[in-house]
This record gives sequence, structure tokens and C-alpha cells, in this order.
Amino acid sequence: MAIQIAPSILSADFANLERDILEVADADWLHVDVMDGHFVPNMTLGLPVVERIAEVSPLPIDAHLMIDDPDRWAPRYAEAGAASVTFHLEAARDPRTIAADLHSLGKRASCAIKPGTAVEQVLPLIDTLDMVLVMTVEPGFGGQAFMEDMMPKLRTLRAAAEAAGRDLRIQTDGGIARATIGTVVEAGCDVVVAGSAIFGAEHRGAEIAALRELAGAVRHQV
Ligand code: DX5
Ligand code: ZN
Repeated sequence: MAIQIAPSILSADFANLERDILEVADADWLHVDVMDGHFVPNMTLGLPVVERIAEVSPLPIDAHLMIDDPDRWAPRYAEAGAASVTFHLEAARDPRTIAADLHSLGKRASCAIKPGTAVEQVLPLIDTLDMVLVMTVEPGFGGQAFMEDMMPKLRTLRAAAEAAGRDLRIQTDGGIARATIGTVVEAGCDVVVAGSAIFGAEHRGAEIAALRELAGAVRHQV
């Protein structure tokens, strides 16, 4: 599977979102971080903003819900226009029902785990999921340092997906840049989120191309 790049608009200019979104049109997904000030100690944006972003974005929306009660809210983000919705395992009451609800809306279902959550907790769910997000920072803020010690989770997931014959995407989010993208791809990641690395670059399209090339070079070696 080709590596997919998902720029996180958390590091974009919120007063010029449409302009910034159009600058990353060469990527594969637009990663939209929804935070509620409860599940994580930060707040970003909610349904009405996601709805408008989905209308103007040339890329499909990859919504990352860092919120309480995803059982209630995840389907609403799918209805608002997200093509893929990621909920956190730590906040979910009934992850299988959330995934089923997203699928019944024709959307992709994805489950995220925080650094402190064991990968074994998400393994029993991979038959219902299209993607698993392994956080490589504590969720809440952009620009944090990459946690390389999460790599064994990626290897475990990749092996479990292969054993189950599942076409599971594995996403990593947090601290990914030119220096770290090879590490996550080598460990089995195929959907890379990058916020500050892309939106902090002078030429965002060129940064996406550089990340893609570095990821592709690793893929050819394995
Ligand atoms: C953090 C968010 C990330 C964030 C990543 O909780 O989920 O998507 O934007 O930012 P960087 O790439 O700067 O670590
Ligand atoms: Zn995110």
C-alpha cells in the first residue's frame, strides 16, 4: 500500500483555513483535530467548522476526535462530511457500535490509542476497523517530541492485521517530520499525520513531496 500523507490543520492559520487547506492539496487526507477541553486539555473546533471545511477541501477529511462520548458524536462528524472518523478507545463505551454506525453512513471507522494504552486493547477490534491510530505524542497539542518507544505497537498491529487477512491502515500522529517519518514507515505505518512539519514549512507542497519521498525510500527497502 502506498504511504498516505495527512497534514494536520492544527498547525494551520485558523484565520485563513481555506487558503492553507488549498496549499496542501497534494496530500491524501486533511487531518482535522477535534478537541473538547475534557478528553484533552485543549479545545479546537467542532461540527459547524468541520462541515464548512468539508465543503471547501479538495482532500477527504480524516477527523481525529479527541473528545468524550464519541459514541454520540462520531456519527455526527461523519454526517458533517468526514470520510474517515477516528475515535479514541479510552473514551468509547461501545467501539463496535461506533464502527458499525460509521460504516452504515458509508464512512471509514478508525480507533486511536494514547501512548499509555496497550496495543492489545485494540487488537480484538481490528476486524471492525479500517484504521488504527497509534499516537506518538500525548494528544492535545502540535509540535511535541516524537515517542519512538511506540514503534512496537505498530509492529504488533501490522502482524495482527496480516495474520487476520485484514486490509488495515495504520496511522501515526505526533512529532512526525523528515527525521522521523522513516522510523514510523519502517515499523508499519502507512498513513502519516504531520502538522507542524508541513504547516511550519515555507513551501508546504514541497514538504509533502519530501516526506513522501523519504517514506517511499523506506518502503522499497523492506
Ligand atoms: C495532537 C494532534 C496532532 C497534531 C500533530 O494531539 O492529534 O494531529 O496536530 O502535530 P505535530 O505533527 O506538530 O506533532
Ligand atoms: Zn491528530
